[in-house]
Amino acid sequence: MIKQFFIHLFVLALLTANSNLAWSGGDAELGQAVAQKWCATCHLVSDSQTTASADVPTFRSIAAKYDDNTDALAAFLADPHPPMPSLSLTWNQIRDLVAYIGSQR
Ligand code: HEC
Repeated sequence: MIKQFFIHLFVLALLTANSNLAWSGGDAELGQAVAQKWCATCHLVSDSQTTASADVPTFRSIAAKYDDNTDALAAFLADPHPPMPSLSLTWNQIRDLVAYIGSQR
C-alpha cells in the first residue's frame, strides 16, 4: 500500500517533468521487444500475433482506450495488474511500451 503510494508519487513527479509525454516519447521498437517478452502471453500485442488469453484487451484496443491519455496509461503500467506478474518495469520500459502501444493504433 505505502509502496504503491510512493510509486505513484514517483510516476507523478516524472510525468510532471515530462508533461509533453506523448505516444512518441519512447522507443517503440524497444517497447515491442518488452511487449513480446512480457505481455504477449496474455495480450495480443500486434496484428500478426494470433493467440493470447481470452478476455484480455488487445494492445490495439488499449491504444484506442487511452488515446490522448498516455499519462494515465503510463501510470497504469507503473503498477502490476493482476494477473500480470510484478515485473517492476523501469520508467524507460514504460515509455517504450507506451510508444509501442501507440504504434498499434
Ligand atoms: C498474466 C497475464 C497478463 C500479462 C503477462 C500482462 N497482462 Fe495486461 N492485462 C491482463 C488482464 C487480464 C487485463 C484486464 C484486466 C485488468 O484491466 O486488470 C489486462 C489489462 C491491461 C491493460 C488495460 C487496462 C485498462 O485500462 O483497460 C493494459 C494497459 C495492460 N494490461 C498492459 C500490459 C502490459 C504492457 C504488459 C506487459 C508488460 C501486460 N499487460 C502483461 C493480463 C496480463
